Amino acid sequence: MPAEFTNSNLEVLLSNEQITTRIKELGAEITNDYAGQEPILIGVLKGAFVFMADLARSINLKISIEFMAVSSYGKAQKSSGEVKIIKDLDVAVEGKDLIVVEDIVDTGLTLSYLLQNLQSRGAKSVRLATLLDKPEPRINKDLKINYCGFQVPNKFVVGYGLDAAERYRNLPFIAVVKNPEIA
Ligand code: IMP
Ligand code: MG
Repeated sequence: MPAEFTNSNLEVLLSNEQITTRIKELGAEITNDYAGQEPILIGVLKGAFVFMADLARSINLKISIEFMAVSSYGKAQKSSGEVKIIKDLDVAVEGKDLIVVEDIVDTGLTLSYLLQNLQSRGAKSVRLATLLDKPEPRINKDLKINYCGFQVPNKFVVGYGLDAAERYRNLPFIAVVKNPEIA
Protein backbone atom coordinates (compact mmCIF):
# COMPACT_ATOMS: atom_id res chain seq x y z
CA MET A 1 0.00 0.00 0.00
CA PRO A 2 1.75 3.27 -1.07
CA ALA A 3 1.76 6.19 1.36
CA GLU A 4 -1.24 8.50 0.88
CA PHE A 5 0.47 11.86 1.46
CA THR A 6 3.06 11.22 -1.27
CA ASN A 7 0.58 9.70 -3.72
CA SER A 8 1.95 10.47 -7.21
CA ASN A 9 -1.56 11.29 -8.46
CA LEU A 10 -1.54 14.43 -6.27
CA GLU A 11 -0.03 17.78 -7.15
CA VAL A 12 0.44 20.01 -4.10
CA LEU A 13 -1.18 23.40 -4.56
CA LEU A 14 -0.95 24.84 -1.04
CA SER A 15 1.48 23.54 1.57
CA ASN A 16 0.59 22.93 5.19
CA GLU A 17 2.81 25.84 6.17
CA GLN A 18 1.08 28.26 3.77
CA ILE A 19 -2.32 27.17 5.04
CA THR A 20 -1.55 27.40 8.75
CA THR A 21 0.07 30.82 8.32
CA ARG A 22 -2.94 32.13 6.42
CA ILE A 23 -5.48 30.72 8.89
CA LYS A 24 -3.67 32.49 11.75
CA GLU A 25 -4.04 35.75 9.81
CA LEU A 26 -7.76 35.14 9.30
CA GLY A 27 -8.15 34.35 13.00
CA ALA A 28 -6.40 37.58 13.96
CA GLU A 29 -8.66 39.52 11.59
CA ILE A 30 -11.79 37.95 13.09
CA THR A 31 -10.48 38.55 16.63
CA ASN A 32 -10.09 42.20 15.74
CA ASP A 33 -13.40 42.59 13.88
CA TYR A 34 -15.46 40.92 16.61
CA ALA A 35 -13.78 42.49 19.65
CA GLY A 36 -16.27 42.56 22.52
CA GLN A 37 -18.64 40.17 20.72
CA GLU A 38 -19.26 36.45 21.12
CA PRO A 39 -19.70 35.04 17.63
CA ILE A 40 -20.90 31.53 16.87
CA LEU A 41 -18.81 29.67 14.31
CA ILE A 42 -21.00 27.41 12.20
CA GLY A 43 -19.00 24.77 10.36
CA VAL A 44 -20.45 23.16 7.26
CA LEU A 45 -19.84 19.41 7.47
CA LYS A 46 -17.95 17.51 6.51
CA GLY A 47 -15.48 19.55 4.48
CA ALA A 48 -14.99 22.40 6.95
CA PHE A 49 -13.92 20.28 9.92
CA VAL A 50 -10.16 20.74 9.51
CA PHE A 51 -10.29 24.46 8.70
CA MET A 52 -12.74 24.96 11.58
CA ALA A 53 -10.37 23.32 14.06
CA ASP A 54 -7.51 25.63 13.04
CA LEU A 55 -9.60 28.77 12.68
CA ALA A 56 -11.32 28.35 16.05
CA ARG A 57 -7.91 28.04 17.74
CA SER A 58 -6.75 31.24 16.06
CA ILE A 59 -9.63 33.37 17.33
CA ASN A 60 -8.82 34.86 20.72
CA LEU A 61 -12.42 35.58 21.75
CA LYS A 62 -15.24 33.91 23.65
CA ILE A 63 -16.79 31.91 20.81
CA SER A 64 -18.98 28.86 20.45
CA ILE A 65 -18.90 26.15 17.82
CA GLU A 66 -21.82 24.61 15.97
CA PHE A 67 -22.07 22.42 12.90
CA MET A 68 -24.57 21.97 10.11
CA ALA A 69 -24.64 19.46 7.30
CA VAL A 70 -26.18 20.19 3.95
CA SER A 71 -26.59 17.96 0.95
CA SER A 72 -23.54 18.19 -1.30
CA TYR A 73 -22.58 16.71 -4.61
CA GLY A 74 -22.42 13.19 -3.24
CA LYS A 75 -19.99 11.33 -5.42
CA ALA A 76 -20.55 13.55 -8.42
CA GLN A 77 -18.15 16.47 -8.79
CA LYS A 78 -20.65 19.12 -9.84
CA SER A 79 -23.33 21.05 -8.02
CA SER A 80 -26.96 20.12 -8.49
CA GLY A 81 -28.08 23.51 -7.15
CA GLU A 82 -30.39 21.71 -4.77
CA VAL A 83 -29.65 22.23 -1.10
CA LYS A 84 -31.09 20.20 1.71
CA ILE A 85 -30.33 20.55 5.41
CA ILE A 86 -29.25 17.12 6.65
CA LYS A 87 -28.15 18.17 10.13
CA ASP A 88 -29.58 21.36 11.54
CA LEU A 89 -28.28 23.57 14.35
CA ASP A 90 -28.99 22.54 17.93
CA VAL A 91 -29.33 26.15 19.08
CA ALA A 92 -31.42 29.21 18.26
CA VAL A 93 -29.44 31.95 16.54
CA GLU A 94 -31.81 34.86 16.90
CA GLY A 95 -29.86 38.01 17.76
CA LYS A 96 -26.50 36.21 17.41
CA ASP A 97 -23.46 37.05 15.34
CA LEU A 98 -22.75 34.10 13.06
CA ILE A 99 -19.68 33.18 11.06
CA VAL A 100 -20.34 30.37 8.60
CA VAL A 101 -17.17 28.34 8.09
CA GLU A 102 -16.87 26.57 4.74
CA ASP A 103 -14.16 24.58 2.97
CA ILE A 104 -14.65 25.98 -0.52
CA VAL A 105 -17.04 28.25 -2.39
CA ASP A 106 -17.55 27.01 -5.92
CA THR A 107 -20.86 27.85 -7.64
CA GLY A 108 -21.90 29.56 -4.40
CA LEU A 109 -25.33 27.92 -4.47
CA THR A 110 -24.89 26.06 -1.19
CA LEU A 111 -23.75 29.17 0.64
CA SER A 112 -26.39 31.47 -0.83
CA TYR A 113 -29.04 29.16 0.48
CA LEU A 114 -27.41 28.70 3.86
CA LEU A 115 -26.70 32.37 4.52
CA GLN A 116 -30.24 33.32 3.61
CA ASN A 117 -31.63 30.55 5.76
CA LEU A 118 -29.62 31.70 8.81
CA GLN A 119 -30.53 35.33 8.22
CA SER A 120 -34.21 34.37 8.15
CA ARG A 121 -33.86 32.90 11.66
CA GLY A 122 -33.23 36.42 12.96
CA ALA A 123 -29.45 36.33 13.31
CA LYS A 124 -27.97 39.73 14.11
CA SER A 125 -25.24 39.26 11.54
CA VAL A 126 -24.10 36.49 9.22
CA ARG A 127 -20.64 36.46 7.68
CA LEU A 128 -18.79 33.89 5.64
CA ALA A 129 -15.31 32.47 6.16
CA THR A 130 -14.00 30.03 3.58
CA LEU A 131 -10.62 28.35 3.30
CA LEU A 132 -10.81 28.33 -0.50
CA ASP A 133 -12.56 30.39 -3.13
CA LYS A 134 -12.88 29.01 -6.65
CA PRO A 135 -14.31 32.10 -8.40
CA GLU A 136 -14.56 30.84 -11.96
CA PRO A 137 -17.63 28.54 -11.67
CA ARG A 138 -19.52 31.03 -9.49
CA ILE A 139 -23.24 31.24 -10.36
CA ASN A 140 -24.26 33.57 -7.57
CA LYS A 141 -21.99 36.53 -8.34
CA ASP A 142 -23.46 38.54 -5.43
CA LEU A 143 -22.19 36.16 -2.77
CA LYS A 144 -19.92 38.08 -0.45
CA ILE A 145 -16.98 36.27 1.13
CA ASN A 146 -15.89 38.13 4.25
CA TYR A 147 -12.86 35.99 5.14
CA CYS A 148 -11.08 34.02 2.44
CA GLY A 149 -7.97 31.88 2.80
CA PHE A 150 -6.92 31.46 -0.82
CA GLN A 151 -8.31 31.71 -4.33
CA VAL A 152 -7.78 28.52 -6.34
CA PRO A 153 -7.97 27.77 -10.07
CA ASN A 154 -10.96 26.00 -11.58
CA LYS A 155 -9.70 22.50 -10.79
CA PHE A 156 -10.94 19.82 -8.44
CA VAL A 157 -8.95 20.15 -5.23
CA VAL A 158 -8.68 17.85 -2.22
CA GLY A 159 -7.13 17.75 1.24
CA TYR A 160 -7.46 19.73 4.44
CA GLY A 161 -11.04 18.49 4.79
CA LEU A 162 -11.96 18.45 1.11
CA ASP A 163 -12.66 15.09 -0.46
CA ALA A 164 -13.02 13.22 -3.69
CA ALA A 165 -15.64 10.54 -3.01
CA GLU A 166 -14.77 10.74 0.74
CA ARG A 167 -11.04 10.22 0.15
CA TYR A 168 -8.21 12.67 0.89
CA ARG A 169 -9.88 14.67 3.68
CA ASN A 170 -6.88 13.85 5.90
CA LEU A 171 -4.20 15.34 3.63
CA PRO A 172 -2.36 18.06 5.60
CA PHE A 173 -2.12 20.17 2.40
CA ILE A 174 -4.33 21.12 -0.57
CA ALA A 175 -3.71 19.24 -3.79
CA VAL A 176 -5.08 18.83 -7.28
CA VAL A 177 -5.95 15.27 -8.27
CA LYS A 178 -4.06 14.86 -11.55
CA ASN A 179 -6.11 12.00 -12.91
CA PRO A 180 -9.52 11.57 -11.24
CA GLU A 181 -9.92 8.18 -12.95
CA ILE A 182 -7.02 6.66 -10.98
CA ALA A 183 -7.83 5.40 -7.50
P1 IMP B 1 -21.13 25.21 -4.28
O1 IMP B 1 -22.56 25.22 -3.90
O2 IMP B 1 -20.93 24.85 -5.73
O3 IMP B 1 -20.38 26.47 -3.92
O4 IMP B 1 -20.53 23.96 -3.54
C1 IMP B 1 -19.62 24.03 -2.57
C2 IMP B 1 -19.37 22.64 -2.01
O5 IMP B 1 -19.03 21.71 -3.05
C3 IMP B 1 -18.18 22.69 -1.11
O6 IMP B 1 -18.57 22.91 0.22
C4 IMP B 1 -17.54 21.33 -1.32
O7 IMP B 1 -18.11 20.41 -0.44
C5 IMP B 1 -17.90 20.95 -2.74
N1 IMP B 1 -16.80 21.27 -3.68
C6 IMP B 1 -16.77 22.26 -4.60
N2 IMP B 1 -15.60 22.28 -5.27
C7 IMP B 1 -14.85 21.30 -4.75
C8 IMP B 1 -13.49 20.82 -5.00
O8 IMP B 1 -12.74 21.31 -5.84
N3 IMP B 1 -13.09 19.78 -4.24
C9 IMP B 1 -13.86 19.20 -3.28
N4 IMP B 1 -15.11 19.61 -3.00
C10 IMP B 1 -15.60 20.64 -3.73
MG1 MG C 1 -18.66 21.79 1.86
